Amino acid sequence: RNYSISVIPGDGIGKEVMPEGVRVLERAASLYGFSIEQTWQDFACCDYYARHGQMMPDDWKERIGQPDAIFFGAVGWPDTVPDHVSLWGSLLQFRREYDQYVNLRPVRLMPGVPCPLVGREPGDIDFWVVRENTEGEYSSVGGKMFPGTPREVVIQETVMTRHGTDRVLRYAFDLAATRDRKHVTSATKSNGIAITMPWWDERVEEMAKNYPTVTHDKYHIDILTAQFVLNPDRFDVVVASNLFGDILSDLGPACTGTIGVAPSGNINPDRTAPSLFEPVHGSAPDIAGKGIANPVGQIWSAAMMLEHLGEADAAAAIMRAVETVLAEPGLRTGDLKGKANTEQCGKAIADALA
Ligand code: NAI
Ligand code: MG
Repeated sequence: RNYSISVIPGDGIGKEVMPEGVRVLERAASLYGFSIEQTWQDFACCDYYARHGQMMPDDWKERIGQPDAIFFGAVGWPDTVPDHVSLWGSLLQFRREYDQYVNLRPVRLMPGVPCPLVGREPGDIDFWVVRENTEGEYSSVGGKMFPGTPREVVIQETVMTRHGTDRVLRYAFDLAATRDRKHVTSATKSNGIAITMPWWDERVEEMAKNYPTVTHDKYHIDILTAQFVLNPDRFDVVVASNLFGDILSDLGPACTGTIGVAPSGNINPDRTAPSLFEPVHGSAPDIAGKGIANPVGQIWSAAMMLEHLGEADAAAAIMRAVETVLAEPGLRTGDLKGKANTEQCGKAIADALA
């Protein structure tokens, strides 16, 4: 088995954690009998913008070609390029052009990561947030009237399609069906948003009929955020529209400790285009260049990518190695009160993969 991977380190600590992600990938490949063919790209970063006045070349799709997946670091350098320019010019292009309609994030409490929720142990919190990633509240339908006057009116519509909603719900139910608890929680707000959200609830009920072994429930988004903090052990797979999912997929990892360990997948489940795997964190300009960033988010993203590619054993082995290293204070990075730098932590995980 050979997989072609497009490697895009991006900006700031993206460039520092990416080599550790690749180190662990290569080690997993050699142990589990597959190979990784890497193509490193120098675009989708603010250095590229400084040289060319745009984040990516016009022919970026041709340059990327048809890889099996994209392995991404982090993008953004607000001192030189405004964040909306760097993000829209890179990551959001991939999500849209490659129809990566699922944003998937694990919420799992790992050993060695201090939990901000009192009294929770590893094992107590272990669920997935499935966010709709292409439509919903983040539409460009709307407009302004009488701008700059006291009569100013702004309108932005939510756009939900049956195709777009059903496909993300199907993904969530499929995922739940593979898990022990087999439970889907839907984020709604049908008491307040009286057209789209009751319809979302109907689509959930319709989809659930296809999955007799999977149970489901729903919470309004306001109380759901409270439940994430108060009773995170209730959840198994949480599915949400674009806006609600955006909020939940930051809140979830925050409930399990440092941002430095959380991974994510921007997934095209139909495999009509590559999926993209990246840590949740950004380029962290405040610590960039020091070699102290936590590489676990990038390494866990590598595990998610291997799972997507069908290398489940290698992915599970990486997660065991991550847990082993996180449990060892001397091998953790400073954000987890450890003494290791980025490279030492990455090497320790690669070694633990033995
Ligand atoms: P950030 O995630 O870069 O940093 C937030 C805080 O967490 C900082 O104090 C940072 O030092 C710390 N941190 C983040 N990752 C860490 C790691 N691996 N190890 C140890 N500490 C870590 O978010 P911020 O500061 O809001 O954004 C900085 C830049 O990153 C901006 O340009 C923003 O647009 C971009 N960004 C990009 C994302 C992406 O590429 N997907 C996601 C979030 C932000
Ligand atoms: Mg967000």
